[in-house]
Amino acid sequence: MVGGGAGYIGSILVPELLRLGHKVTVVDLLWFGNHLPSDTKIIQKDLFHLEKSDLTNIDIFIFLAGLSNDPMAEFSPAKNFIYNAALPAYLAFIAKQAGVKRYIYASSCSVYGYTDNSLYDETAPTISSYPYGISKLQGEKGVFQLQDKDFSVIALRQGTVGGYSPRMRFDLIVNTMFKTAIKDGKITINNPAIWRPLCDVRDTAAAYVKAIQLDSQTSDVFNIALSNFTVGEIGEAIKKKIEELTKKSVLIDVKNVQDYRNYKVSTDKAATKLGFKASFSIADTIEELFRHIDQYQDFEKDEFYNIRTFKKIEGGGERQYI
Ligand SMILES: NC(=O)c1ccc[n+]([C@@H]2O[C@H](COP(=O)([O-])OP(=O)(O)OC[C@H]3O[C@@H](n4cnc5c(N)ncnc54)[C@H](O)[C@@H]3O)[C@@H](O)[C@H]2O)c1
Repeated sequence: MVGGGAGYIGSILVPELLRLGHKVTVVDLLWFGNHLPSDTKIIQKDLFHLEKSDLTNIDIFIFLAGLSNDPMAEFSPAKNFIYNAALPAYLAFIAKQAGVKRYIYASSCSVYGYTDNSLYDETAPTISSYPYGISKLQGEKGVFQLQDKDFSVIALRQGTVGGYSPRMRFDLIVNTMFKTAIKDGKITINNPAIWRPLCDVRDTAAAYVKAIQLDSQTSDVFNIALSNFTVGEIGEAIKKKIEELTKKSVLIDVKNVQDYRNYKVSTDKAATKLGFKASFSIADTIEELFRHIDQYQDFEKDEFYNIRTFKKIEGGGERQYI
């Protein structure tokens, strides 16, 4: 079962799980529509409304839901904590009671907060001080509390994901820079010195597949990324690739905006213990985005931007919490 499986990562991961022969049920509110293959089993509902009886016969639960970026978390800090911290723990609680064997949690490198530029492994301090990062860490703690020899918990602390997904997002750093380079011939770099680990969405999906395959006794947390890049390096790599693809020049506009996230992570543990090694470079990610360019039209659909869609849902009073 994949909670939040109709989102950006799920729309790459779920088809891959089906291709590998897994039986998959997606439970999702479909905030951003449904872009999954037509034969995917989808239950449209709030994960909070699942009960233990909904999870009998499930071997593995993958949590990809919640508020998935800082602007959403800042728009609704209370709901952020409900969906990112309480919800994963509640689901782990009923999953364990129902006999689910493994719970895989979509965590984030945001848990590290603003670091001192040294390389952070999974034992490093987690000092984030803003709603999204704190809530992702609380979600992790909540699910790990339940792990034992019969209930394996794996948390994947993902770097910022990028690339093409049938459920597209243009509010993620690589995708945003791709968009403005194509649309405006310009890339804005808010702060060139800030560090970000990145991961192509295809590699991210591959990390979940590895997590499924780990031996059943393992419970652990893994940083998931290709590598660490400064925002300046990301902009330069994207500019180079877009200029090569379009034969048009791209301007880099450097600002000096303070950021509250800055982290470099070690991926050694994922390589040795999870057997995960990312294979797609930034240039590969851009190439894949470019290959699908006809699907984006003017890039401005509200569903491409989580905060725009979320504000509409919240403002319209269309949903209730819990
Ligand atoms: N995309 C990234 O760069 C990134 C990086 C680190 C961590 N993560 C985490 O990975 C997960 C997936 O990210 P994404 O980019 O695919 O996000 P997304 O916003 O595209 O997808 C989230 C999905 O969850 C669903 N959802 C949210 N709350 C729900 C609920 N209560 N009940 C049912 N469905 C619900 C939404 O409808 C949506 O389809 C999130 O937990 C996010 O915090 C993402």
